[in-house]
Amino acid sequence: MIPRDGKRTPLTFESITPGAGLTAALKLSRADLIAELAASKLRGRGGAGFPTATKWNLAAAARVQEGQHKYVVCNADEGEPGTFKDRVLLLDHADLVFEGMTIAARAIGARKGILYLRAEYIYMRRLLEAELIQRREAGLLGSAIGGLEGFDFDIAIRMGAGAYVCGEETALIESLEGNRGEPRNRPPFPVDTGFLRQPTVVNNVETLAAVAAIFAKGAAWFRAIGSEQSTGFKLFSVSGDCERPGVYEFPFAITIADLLSQVGGTNAKAVQVGGASGTCLPASEFGRRLAFEDAATGGSIIVFGPGRDMLLVAKNFMEFFVEESCGQCTPCRMGNVKLLEGIEMLERGECSSAYLSELFGLCETMQLASKCGLGQSSPNAFLSIMHGFRNEIMGRSPVPMRGER
Ligand SMILES: Cc1cc2nc3c(=O)[nH]c(=O)nc-3n(C[C@H](O)[C@H](O)[C@H](O)COP(=O)(O)O)c2cc1C
Ligand code: SF4
Repeated sequence: MIPRDGKRTPLTFESITPGAGLTAALKLSRADLIAELAASKLRGRGGAGFPTATKWNLAAAARVQEGQHKYVVCNADEGEPGTFKDRVLLLDHADLVFEGMTIAARAIGARKGILYLRAEYIYMRRLLEAELIQRREAGLLGSAIGGLEGFDFDIAIRMGAGAYVCGEETALIESLEGNRGEPRNRPPFPVDTGFLRQPTVVNNVETLAAVAAIFAKGAAWFRAIGSEQSTGFKLFSVSGDCERPGVYEFPFAITIADLLSQVGGTNAKAVQVGGASGTCLPASEFGRRLAFEDAATGGSIIVFGPGRDMLLVAKNFMEFFVEESCGQCTPCRMGNVKLLEGIEMLERGECSSAYLSELFGLCETMQLASKCGLGQSSPNAFLSIMHGFRNEIMGRSPVPMRGER
C-alpha cells in the first residue's frame, strides 16, 4: 500500500519478476495460454468485471479483413473520479503493463498495441516511451518476439484529450480514430469490430499488469486469493475523509469496514464505492464485501466523514455527469440535467415527494435506455444517496414527503 503519509508496504506487483510472465506465456500454445488465463478467473479491473479470458477468446476467434491486423488497446484513461491506481502502475510497473499487452497480443494474434493515455498523464509519456525503446532493444517488442517466428508486435502511445466518456471503450476507439469521442452502439463489440473496424481487445492497465503476474506465478496462485467470483488482489484508490488516503492493495472480498480501519476512516458515515458512477453506501452497509458479487468497484473508494452534507455530495456527482455526458442520447443528456435540477430543488426545499418519485422513475429510464455505461450508471449515486440518506436529505426540506412526515 502507498498511503500519503509515506509509510508504504510493497504491492504484490513488486514481487513479480519483469519478463517472467512473458517467458512462461510464450511457452504455451495460444489456446493453452487463454486456458491458463481462464483458470485464474481474472476479471477486468476497469469496472465492469468482464472475464478477461472470455474477451480474449472472442478476439482470438474473430476474423480480420484482408491486409488488416488485430489490436490490443490498454485503457489508461483513468477518468473515474476518485481513481488514481493506474497512475501508480504506469509510473512504477509500466514493464508489467506492456508485458501484459504483449501476452494479449500473442493470445489473440494482434500485431499492434496502443496505450491510450489520459491527457492529464502527459508528464508520463516520456518515461513510457523510454520503456518502449528499452523493450524494443531487448527484443521484447518488434519482430519474432522471444524468438517466436511470426510473433511480431509493437506498441504506440496515444493521448486522450480530457473527456471522461473516452474511457468507455468504444468512445476511446472513436477517439483513437480521430473522431469525436462518442460511444458506438454495441453490438458489434470491439472484440469483433474495434479499432479501424478490426478485432480489438481493450483492457484496463491493472488487468494487463495482473496478466503478467498470473503468468509469472501461475493461475492457481492467483485464484487462491480473493473470493470464488472475484479472484486475486486488487488496487484501491482511497480518498476523502480518512487519515491515510492513498493507493492500497487488498485481496478481493475485503469488507468495507476492514478497509476503513486500515485507512483510518472508521468514523465515516458513507463510502462511495466505484467512483461517481458507483454506489454510495451508509455505515449500516459497511459489512459488505468489495467484490463483483457484492459491492462492485473498479477501485475508487471515496470516504465521507460525519460532517459531510450528502445532498451536496450528490450534487457534486451530478454536476460532473452533466458536464461529461457526450450528449448523443436523450436519456443521459436530459436525464442528468433533470436530476441535478431535482437536487437544487431539494436544496431550496422545493422538491415534493411526488416529484422525487418521478425522478426515481427517470433514473430507471436512464439505466435502461441510455446508450452507454455513462448514462446507465450516472443515476447510481443519486439513487443510493437519496435512499441511504433520505432522513438527512428530507430533514432539510420544508416540503413534506409522501407518507413520511
Ligand atoms: C463512462 C465510462 C468511462 C470509463 N472509463 C474507464 C477508464 O478510465 N479506464 C478503464 O479501464 N475502463 C473504463 N471504462 C470501462 C471500459 O469501457 C472497458 O469496460 C474497460 O476498459 C475494459 O477493460 P477490463 O475488461 O480490463 O476492465 C469506462 C466505462 C465507461 C462507461
Ligand atoms: S449515455 Fe451519455 S455519454 Fe453515453 S452515449 Fe448517451 S449521451 Fe453519450
